[in-house]
Amino acid sequence: MAYLQWTENLSVGIARMDEHHKKLVDLINQVFDAMSGDASAAVDSVLADLLDYTRYHFAEEEKLLAACAFPDLEEHQAVHRSMVKEVMEMRSRHLADPASVTASETLDFLSKWLMRHIIGKDLRYRPFAENHSAI
Ligand SMILES: [Fe+2]
Ligand SMILES: [Fe+2]
Repeated sequence: MAYLQWTENLSVGIARMDEHHKKLVDLINQVFDAMSGDASAAVDSVLADLLDYTRYHFAEEEKLLAACAFPDLEEHQAVHRSMVKEVMEMRSRHLADPASVTASETLDFLSKWLMRHIIGKDLRYRPFAENHSAI
């Protein structure tokens, strides 16, 4: 099974944010590994870790966007909020009925969840963050 991978074309030009994104990739792969096993308690705990780290990353990223006067900060924040909700819903579904959420579907869902956001949204802040002396 091919795990999700971070590649250079996903770089937002800020090393710390790239490190956060790599950690999210790692956590998504851990969710897949946990779901491929048969201990559903492990799945819930790694989904909780993914949610915690996602909230941390989004908060740090929003601080950075505010510091570099990124013009679409509000829209970006709204997208972050709905992404957190999506994972919370998936976690609830899994808790209610672990068999209803398969490992490969989840990997597919979380891969798109992260990659579409980095490529479609995060890469847009690159020119603002790169040229800002405070970062
Ligand atoms: Fe973001
Ligand atoms: Fe991000």
